[in-house]
Amino acid sequence: MNKTIIGALPGDHNLMNYSELVLNFNFEESIREFYGEAKEANISYHVLEKNISRGLGDKIALYYEGDERQESYTFSQLQRQVNKFANVLDKCGLGKGDRIALFLPRTPELYISFLGAVKKGLVVVPIFEAFMEDAVKERLLDSAAAALVTNADLLARVPKQELPELKTILLTKGGQYQGTLDWHSEVGMASSESGYCPVDREDPLFILYAAGADGQPKGLVHVHGCAPGLWVTANWVHDLKADDVYWCTADPGWITGIAYGFLAPWLHGVTVLVKGGRFDAARWCEVLQKYRVSVWYSAPTAFRMIIAAGKDTYGKYDLNRLRHILSVGEPLTEDVMQWSQAAFGIPIYDTWWMSETGMNMICNFRCLDIKLGSIGKPVPGIKAAVVDDLGNELPPYRIGNLAIKAGWPAMARDVWGNHQKYLEYFRLKPWFISGDAAYMDEDGYFYFQGRVDGIINTAGERVGPWEVEKKLKEHPAVKDAGVAGKPDKIRGEIVKAYIVLNQGFTWSENLAQELRNYVKTGLAAHASPRQFEVKESIPKTPDGKVDRKVLRGWALELGKR
Ligand code: PRX
Repeated sequence: MNKTIIGALPGDHNLMNYSELVLNFNFEESIREFYGEAKEANISYHVLEKNISRGLGDKIALYYEGDERQESYTFSQLQRQVNKFANVLDKCGLGKGDRIALFLPRTPELYISFLGAVKKGLVVVPIFEAFMEDAVKERLLDSAAAALVTNADLLARVPKQELPELKTILLTKGGQYQGTLDWHSEVGMASSESGYCPVDREDPLFILYAAGADGQPKGLVHVHGCAPGLWVTANWVHDLKADDVYWCTADPGWITGIAYGFLAPWLHGVTVLVKGGRFDAARWCEVLQKYRVSVWYSAPTAFRMIIAAGKDTYGKYDLNRLRHILSVGEPLTEDVMQWSQAAFGIPIYDTWWMSETGMNMICNFRCLDIKLGSIGKPVPGIKAAVVDDLGNELPPYRIGNLAIKAGWPAMARDVWGNHQKYLEYFRLKPWFISGDAAYMDEDGYFYFQGRVDGIINTAGERVGPWEVEKKLKEHPAVKDAGVAGKPDKIRGEIVKAYIVLNQGFTWSENLAQELRNYVKTGLAAHASPRQFEVKESIPKTPDGKVDRKVLRGWALELGKR
């Protein structure tokens, strides 16, 4: 099969010889190298003190560009803030193993709170800012979070009386309420010296809730020992160099915004840009120019929205510091690739991975040819394959389950409170079954072919159909509901809902709008169906679950072709 090829880039890359490294690399050695003599396992040491001890204390760790605030922190300044917050947690009687939820917009307080909590051995539960009451309550209850950092606006979505474990609430902005503490005054009063809570590499670091197809989101438990996995991929895939300014546009409510938003680049002492506020094509280009971003990690939907804004927008800015662009989360379409080549003279490097894998798994590398449409080749140390439903490896060009041989540093170690769910990922030993379909070509390049289950990927954000169906069915007009991803030019997929109406209700655009708002205000805006279709019934499997294959067929309009 002929695929358009973009040749390997000339130049001095961190990874020059992929094939040799695949043969010679093993994670055990790199783990030893990473931890060195110190053997300190707490990841906050590796992103702060380690950098300071190698002379990077005065280097900028974080540029923050918000709509109302612009700030910068050196590694030493960041460390002092982190220590102060760690001391606030001590004062509140919080310690090792306690869960602390961070429900915040992208602001410096989020990053400081994350590392301060981690320093004291707490387990962070990130909650994406767009989640509404049901989703927030579900995550706080399931993790039994003892503490929460949020702001006064978002606090309105936290049903405190239904959360008996939640004892401490710190507000970063918007006034104070009974039973809350002011983040800034507490941090202001605290000492800037703090020691570590000793942790084991296998101790939990954060619990990230990821949507499943037929049930509540799963709390994926990630551990401190993810660090060497982030470290090697930031080196080989992101090609980070000491003088880079790195911008990963993902929100830390999602895995990308945690793993590569700050942890991975800071493990290398690289300067990170965080932009607050909503997406805006012109503002994005402006900050790329202003901060002289050299490595940019984003997603196809964002690229497509910049393309849609037109050359009059992106063409106005001097973006020639950009030397490496990467993409994640959804298929990188050919139009986006062509745009990047034309606008910046460089290709975009696609990376495939998941909340469950915790780190980049299958990627394109600067030292290798890119085959358009391929997610690339496995990261050295990772064995990927396409397997059938019994776990047998399939030959090239056969579509099957995209699988990874279990056991890499950043792999999620458990599903919080539901070990059985975790084991389901490993039902075909020795493979971790991703839930994605793929095929491989004769050169070992992989090609993503969509989800096997019904999980929806809209604008790179993962939506569980079950959660949306549950919410829709709570509405008096809806007797039954089935939700699927429908292909969309800009967003990759949109959420489409098929509904059966209860007696006495008739379909109208007003009702559609009401249902949209109902999901938006109860669950999350990104999970709200853009389209509806009324049906007589929703197809079910023999065990009574929504038949996701039939629904997918409906969404693809297969019968109408
Ligand atoms: O379906 C795959 C898609 O995103 C899913 C994982 O979503 P999440 O856990 O939210 O993590 C997203 C970013 C790490 C995968 O199962 N996906 C991820 N990367 C790609 C992708 N689809 C196509 N191309 C990719 N490069």
